[in-house]
Amino acid sequence: MSGILEGKRILITGVLMESSIAFHAAKLAQEQGAEVILTAFPRPTLTERIARKLPKPAKVIELDVTNEEHLARLEQLVRDELGGLDGVVHSIGFAPQDALGGNFLNTPFESVATAMHVSAFSLKSLTMACKPLFPHEGAAVVGLTFDAQFAWPQYDWMGPAKAALEATSRYLARDLGKENIRCNLVSAGPIGSMAAKSIPGFSDLAEVWNSRSMLEWDMSDPEPTGRAIVALLSDWFPKTTGEIVHVDGGLHAMGA
Ligand SMILES: NC(=O)c1ccc[n+]([C@@H]2O[C@H](COP(=O)([O-])OP(=O)(O)OC[C@H]3O[C@@H](n4cnc5c(N)ncnc54)[C@H](O)[C@@H]3O)[C@@H](O)[C@H]2O)c1
Repeated sequence: MSGILEGKRILITGVLMESSIAFHAAKLAQEQGAEVILTAFPRPTLTERIARKLPKPAKVIELDVTNEEHLARLEQLVRDELGGLDGVVHSIGFAPQDALGGNFLNTPFESVATAMHVSAFSLKSLTMACKPLFPHEGAAVVGLTFDAQFAWPQYDWMGPAKAALEATSRYLARDLGKENIRCNLVSAGPIGSMAAKSIPGFSDLAEVWNSRSMLEWDMSDPEPTGRAIVALLSDWFPKTTGEIVHVDGGLHAMGA
């Protein structure tokens, strides 16, 4: 039986550890027949080590998504390897420590600007860097958010950064729809990755999650999120764009 990404070439950012959501997206994408290329930050060696745990080999390209030179050379490096791209996964988030963990009222703009640049503006930068690689038939861009409709404990300026990411995704969907480029986000519940552990007190939120969500929530399992990413990359969401699919056990739909 062939997979739902058979014949597709997918670039995946954000593989840092085995706990990275992107690692699980890459694994599932390969299992579903995709050819996968990874980008790495801060060092290719880290990502290369984790990439060895994937079912198939995947080339790793260094990419700091705020570095214009890295973005400019991405097209040629990917073209040499895969010839083009049918999908891109943006699995990138970062805020300086003084923008997280209960310091919302005192965070300097410089730190807010970094959070916005890395976590939100980069969806546009990455998409445009990859756009010349997309075939005439179109492509799929998928990013990761943490529901920005609500104010969360400890999340602080990552909240406004995710709100900006969600809006950026809708505007990309608007401007790229005529070229059949779909842009969607997966809104995941808490997962125990590096990014989550860098937010002081984030694990408390995970406990609340499982007590309130409609479905049981397992913070140590990124696979359900990975599956949604793969589904949005596939041809099974052909007329869905500007959308946010919640993979949160249903918590977003609970009133109390
Ligand atoms: N873990 C959660 O609870 C959770 C929930 C919802 C959404 N998300 C989102 O999922 C995405 C992936 O996070 P994760 O939980 O897998 O954690 P992670 O720490 O494994 O991944 C974050 C990635 O961002 C990358 N990154 C940071 N700065 C970068 C830069 N300048 N250029 C390129 N890459 C850079 C890191 O290398 C890392 O691979 C993020 O957007 C995160 O906000 C996470």
